Amino acid sequence: MHGTGPGGDVVLEFLRSPLSFLDRIVRQHGGSVGLRLGGEHVVLLTDPALSRQVLIDQADTFCKEGTAFFPGSSLAGNGLLVSDGPLWRRQRQLSNPAFRRTAIESYAQAMGSATRQMLATSWSGSGRRDVYSDFNALTLQITTEALFGKNLSAEQGAKVTGAIQTAFEFFAGRASTGFIIPEWFPTPDNFLYHEAMASLDSAVYGIIDSRQGELAGSAQSPQCLLDNLLMSEDEFGRGMSREALRDELMTLLVAGQETSAILLAWTCAYLAHHPEVQARAAEEVGQVQLPQVLEGAEPSPANVQEMRYLQAVVLETLRLRPPAYIVGRCAAIDVTLGSHQLPKVCAGTTLLVSPWVMHRDPQHWPQPETFQPERWLDLLAAKPAMAELSNMGSNGVYLPFGAGPRNCIGTGFAMMEALVVLASMLRKVRFLTVPGERFPAADPRITLRPASCTLLLEMHPRIQYQAAPQVELMGSRTEITMTNDC
Ligand code: HEM
Repeated sequence: MHGTGPGGDVVLEFLRSPLSFLDRIVRQHGGSVGLRLGGEHVVLLTDPALSRQVLIDQADTFCKEGTAFFPGSSLAGNGLLVSDGPLWRRQRQLSNPAFRRTAIESYAQAMGSATRQMLATSWSGSGRRDVYSDFNALTLQITTEALFGKNLSAEQGAKVTGAIQTAFEFFAGRASTGFIIPEWFPTPDNFLYHEAMASLDSAVYGIIDSRQGELAGSAQSPQCLLDNLLMSEDEFGRGMSREALRDELMTLLVAGQETSAILLAWTCAYLAHHPEVQARAAEEVGQVQLPQVLEGAEPSPANVQEMRYLQAVVLETLRLRPPAYIVGRCAAIDVTLGSHQLPKVCAGTTLLVSPWVMHRDPQHWPQPETFQPERWLDLLAAKPAMAELSNMGSNGVYLPFGAGPRNCIGTGFAMMEALVVLASMLRKVRFLTVPGERFPAADPRITLRPASCTLLLEMHPRIQYQAAPQVELMGSRTEITMTNDC
């Protein structure tokens, strides 16, 4: 056990209200608390130096294997999220090129066009919408398109998204019960899940095989994440096996779809509840250099790099509502944390690091519970947002995408997606709160979702007035409009 902590097993207290439990236990016992949780020895860490030791400095000693509270699934297989040791290292090395800046910029096309489609259809009028549900559909479309590009036929697309939705419903059901029923156990929902997995595998292996055939011996440049992964080789000229590729593709879907939807939904909730912030963000988006906006009709990667206020809004949302509110590791050996004043952590102990608690520590964040994008502006004037998202941030207590070698490989993807989607929306739509509704509560499951998996907002078209005549650009007619938040 570690530090001082409450006596007895606290699993029921934790399950009843995980966030209040975390806040209270850290207030009472400090930055390193030894707990017994469902029979497991657990150390809850919120001390910045100890968290850094676990996630960054001694990352090899604190592995993922054996982490009691983060079970894998046959959907994501042995992909990056759960693999460990040499297998993880090789897979991460082979996957990294697919997440370099230029690669991410190429996926921005899918982000912009899916958003345009949503704005032209379900979000075209005024009304009340469940933005959590809308963003889940949007990010599923974006992630699937970024993964497979044009290699996905309409039929395969329907098969993949249908199977993924069945799997996500299955996981949501399992998470809400609080019990983990093994996937092999013959229950009706396990049966449906396995049927969906079989259909998904046949579609995904079909796409992998046909694209591998097309790329063999050709000099094509990569068009999507699948291409990037297919073309990646280690120092011996060897790529990923077919099975590893399937597992990584599904891992990216699992890890990247809902987390991004949650971030977008929370951001829109903050914008609706803080109209002055929304007005400032919309004004910034409206002032983007027009020629770049016109090229693709949606703000381009270069445009969103300039939108410092919008970036600050996203960073502040990730501070107060980190979708990954807790991350876990397992001590591979007996190890001392920090100075020798603390008792040793025994091999097999689970360590939980909580961005939720660290992001609202009053020692590091003035007025921690207040949504204040302005707190980021000086930092963003000096450094790009990505610098704040690595290495636990400037103050050492900001880690919405984790930290160290196992940090989120999709950080750049998620930030680009959030900024492109939000900038596109703020040009067209105004978010308002539903009369009488308070700011939605957070429901910590595997991720930090809005309570009841619903987030209702009122939406109205943003008043646009024409500032200049229509222009012809790249063969398509585009209107220059200016937005007005009145
Ligand atoms: C707002 C959106 C996102 C958040 C908050 C988020 C958060 C995180 C966090 C905290 C981790 C580290 C977990 C740990 O230390 O145990 C992680 C890992 C990971 N994320 Fe994300 N993520 C997001 C979006 C994405 C996207 C868009 C992708 C892919 C397209 C992605 C793919 C992954 C993968 C593969 C890992 C495992 C990396 C490894 O262990 O090598 N994530 N994510």
